[in-house]
Amino acid sequence: MDSRPIGVFDSGLGGLTALRELARLMPEEDLIYFGDTGRVPYGGRSRETLIQYARQDVAFLKTFQPKAVVIACGTVSATALDVLTAENTFPIYGVVESAARLAAARTQSRKVGLIGTRASIRSGAYERALAALDPAIQVYPQACPLLVPLVENGRFRPGDAVTEQVVAEYLTPLKEAAVDTLILGCTHYPLLRDVVQSYMGPEVTLVDVGAACADWVATSLEEHGLRCGGTAPGRRQYYVSDSTEDFAYLASLFLGQDITDGVAQVDITRY
Ligand code: DGL
Repeated sequence: MDSRPIGVFDSGLGGLTALRELARLMPEEDLIYFGDTGRVPYGGRSRETLIQYARQDVAFLKTFQPKAVVIACGTVSATALDVLTAENTFPIYGVVESAARLAAARTQSRKVGLIGTRASIRSGAYERALAALDPAIQVYPQACPLLVPLVENGRFRPGDAVTEQVVAEYLTPLKEAAVDTLILGCTHYPLLRDVVQSYMGPEVTLVDVGAACADWVATSLEEHGLRCGGTAPGRRQYYVSDSTEDFAYLASLFLGQDITDGVAQVDITRY
C-alpha cells in the first residue's frame, strides 16, 4: 500500500486524455498534473531540448514525492523515456509500448497507421515497438504538426471546417493505404477523435495512447504493490507554466467538471 501521488505531465492539454483514464481506473489515487503550456508545442523541438524540458517537468513533479510518473506525451515518451528512466528510481511510464501492444492486438490486416508530432515520427519509436511485437506489421507514419496548436486553441469539435480540412489532408495517405488501425500517437489527438473517426470511417480502430498507457499503469502499480488501497476519492492538482485561465477553461470542458480552483501556475525554468 502506497499513498504517494502519481505525477503526470505533457506539453499542455493533451495529457489530460491519459489523466482522465487514470482517474477513471484508479479514482482513489492522488494525481498531480503538469502541463507545460508556456512551451507548448513540444513536437517540433530537437531531442536535446525535449530532454531538457522533460528533466525539468520530472524535477517539478518530484517535489511531490511521487510513487510513479506518467509521461502523458507521445513526443517525450518517444525521445526521452530511456534518459528519464535511467535518472530516476521510481517507475516512469511512457505511452509508446502500451499503444503498440494494443495496436498489434487489434490489427487484422497488419496495416497500421501512425499519426504524431514531427519529433515522435522522426524517432521511429512506435515502429520499433511494433516490429518487436510483430515484424509483419506495416506502419504508415504521418507527422501532423498543425494538430496540437489546433487542439490547444480549442479547435477540436466536429464541424470546425479548418480542423476537418487539416485532418483530411494529413489522413489521406493513410486512408489510401487502407490501414485498419490508426495509432493516435500524440495524447492531444483523442480530443480530435470524432473528426478523425468520421474521416477514416467506423471500421478503422483508433488507438488512444494515453488511455492504453493508463490501463498499463493501473495493472503495473497493482502488480508492484504500489496502489494506495484507500477508498476515499483521490485529490487532483493541476499545474501549468503559463496563465491558468485558458487551460482551466478547456480542461474543465474536456474533463466534464470545473477544475478552475485546482489550477496553479509554476515557473518551470526554476527546476
Ligand atoms: N501531447 C504531446 C504528444 O503526445 C504533444 C506534443 C506537442 O506539444 O507538440 O506528443
